[in-house]
Amino acid sequence: MADAFAMNSYLGKQILSLVRGGDYAHAGEEEAIELALASLPKDASRRLLDAGCGRGGTAAYMQRHGWGRATGVDIEPKSIDYARDAFPDGTFVCCDIHDVGAHVGDGFDAVVMFNVLYAIADQAGALRALAGRAKPGADLMVFDYVELGGYAQAPVLDAGRPFLPHPLKIDRVEGLLRDGGWRLQSVADISADYRRWYAALVERIAAKRAAIEALAGADAYEHVHGRYAGLLAAIESGHLGGAVVRATKAGA
Ligand SMILES: C[S@@+](CC[C@H](N)C(=O)[O-])C[C@H]1O[C@@H](n2cnc3c(N)ncnc32)[C@H](O)[C@@H]1O
Repeated sequence: MADAFAMNSYLGKQILSLVRGGDYAHAGEEEAIELALASLPKDASRRLLDAGCGRGGTAAYMQRHGWGRATGVDIEPKSIDYARDAFPDGTFVCCDIHDVGAHVGDGFDAVVMFNVLYAIADQAGALRALAGRAKPGADLMVFDYVELGGYAQAPVLDAGRPFLPHPLKIDRVEGLLRDGGWRLQSVADISADYRRWYAALVERIAAKRAAIEALAGADAYEHVHGRYAGLLAAIESGHLGGAVVRATKAGA
């Protein structure tokens, strides 16, 4: 039966890594990292917090390409175990972002979130917890899905629940950041990039059908293909898009 597992599970991320050819569970893979961090000057001594790091590929990419020393946190233990094995030069901690203060030291120069905030109900609380780990004036980059109108009325479901439970609403982002202890600097609409990335992803899922079925079975293939074809349809119909939001820690 097709709705056996959620895409944010370890198996879901494992399948996405197979399809994407890297340990990424965000749209656009390495191109997206370069785009999202283009305005953050490279500084190998910067302390970076990758909140919701998944399998660690993004943290490793940022560190390898000179953006700083990365610490990744994720709520899902098997992904953190995988990240520690695959990327021993990074630091990976298993915790809920809301509890990050109990698990990770403070003094981070920058916090990044790649397709994570959409999964969190209390977004202001999560942002506040992250602000508590950041230096005065620290940078925040949020790369995420955006509700452009109409998506909430017909959301794509994943294991019986909305696949994207809380996509950002651009007209509320400034207030959300303020409540979370951050000051908005800019919002870039990257919906056209999302459209291109998801069209390519759906094609790659189809091309990897045999490998997905060998790893997880025929139902898993149908499940994965169906979720991303649904997201692509929502993006193509203008209901869903993507944005890069930049902010700095308030009070600096
Ligand atoms: C779509 S994946 C993106 C993973 C990673 N940022 C990447 O780009 O490959 C979303 C990740 O957020 C994590 N996550 C969701 N809610 C979380 C929370 N409250 N605390 C920590 N991690 C969370 C999930 O376990 C999952 O690994």
